[in-house]
Amino acid sequence: MKGVVVIGTQWGDEGKGKVTDFLAEQADVVVRFQGGNNAGHTIVFDDRKFALHLIPSGIFRTEAINVLANGMVIDPKAMLDELEMLKQGGVTDFQLYLSDRAHVVLPQHIELDGLMEDIKPQHKKVGTTRKGIGPAYTDKFARIGIRICDLIDEAAFKDKLTDNLKYHNTILTAYGKPAIDIEAVFDEYYQYGQLLKPYVTDTSRLLNGVLEDGKKVLFEGAQGALLCIDHGTYPFVTSSSPTASSVPLNTGVSPQYITDVVGVTKAYSTRVGSGCFLTEFNNDTASKIRDAGNEYGTTTGRPRRIGWLDTVVLRHTKRVSGVTGLSVMLLDVLTGIDPLKICVAYHLDGKRIDYIPASITDLERCKPEYVTLPGWHQDITKTTKFSDLPDAAKQYLNTISELVGIPISMFSFGPDRTQTIVLDDVMNT
Ligand code: IMP
Repeated sequence: MKGVVVIGTQWGDEGKGKVTDFLAEQADVVVRFQGGNNAGHTIVFDDRKFALHLIPSGIFRTEAINVLANGMVIDPKAMLDELEMLKQGGVTDFQLYLSDRAHVVLPQHIELDGLMEDIKPQHKKVGTTRKGIGPAYTDKFARIGIRICDLIDEAAFKDKLTDNLKYHNTILTAYGKPAIDIEAVFDEYYQYGQLLKPYVTDTSRLLNGVLEDGKKVLFEGAQGALLCIDHGTYPFVTSSSPTASSVPLNTGVSPQYITDVVGVTKAYSTRVGSGCFLTEFNNDTASKIRDAGNEYGTTTGRPRRIGWLDTVVLRHTKRVSGVTGLSVMLLDVLTGIDPLKICVAYHLDGKRIDYIPASITDLERCKPEYVTLPGWHQDITKTTKFSDLPDAAKQYLNTISELVGIPISMFSFGPDRTQTIVLDDVMNT
């Protein structure tokens, strides 16, 4: 029995896709547990390129079971589009299950996501992906959400959709937006539900069963821990919890089954959307990193903000999420940048602190304290073992591990699978 969680330790886009893809090779089951099609990663497979937003990365292996668990919000249209994209690419032989308890993203959620962003002044905009994620989770917690089990049941869907749209149409029309037609949404989405019905099951029972059978399960996080609704830089966060701590709740799997947590971090920091980003810098070095790391969003195409690595953030994630090993990505992007900086603490109103204050105004007043390290100039993209690395790159990795207090289980220095060195084979130890 093995339950390995892969999470982003920063603000998302850490390169989890590559780590998940790598570990999924050895997993019997791959599970998405939170978020929806706000996430995205690209997988290159047999010279074909696939952009996945909802479907887990085990989908390319016929023997792997793929699960979209109860903690997710599912846009049925987006899921069907993704299945069609896979079919067009010749990927048809797979095992896929969708939780009957996952919530459904409907047109009113997308409309409200855009509206809530548009009515805010610039400095208060969250910079959401406008995929309806926040409003779908809001409905879940307001107990007016529509679940997959409702979507596939004609009477339940009609009843719940009518109540839900009456409520949301009041808000939309109050803001001058047209009301959404209940019949039109029902007709369209009921059909989608019927197309998804073959995949629907109680995924908690499925997952506990495979874990009891001694199988290896990989839980694939989306976004990053600093976007967590509880432990992130609220309100500039997503509406779910991308931490390993949320896996039992979001999947219906017993906590005792979580054996390892791989925290994925870039060798530097990036953030898309708004919100405080203390180690951010905007100069030629940032542009160099943005271009070398292709730091543009997979889902929205937005240029990402660039900053130095922040170990206050990494220690925060280790604490609130539990991280047993770090996976350091995109080390090659730092080649030629000399010197390098790593943030080790913050200073708030003259006091040195080692935590992220809850209040955003306190966080905005913090000043980062850095250690400066030498950079390296040699090409590291053909490295085959840790000892091949230039001394400065070894020192950089060792410093991260010491500052965060956990070992480095993997590091990566290029997009190809071969450009990865595994120091701790988590799926097999
Ligand atoms: P939402 O998840 O669309 O509601 O967006 C909320 C915040 O999370 C925004 O700042 C988004 O840019 C950010 N976000 C959502 N999904 C991702 C992701 O997959 N990577 C990075 N940032 C994300």
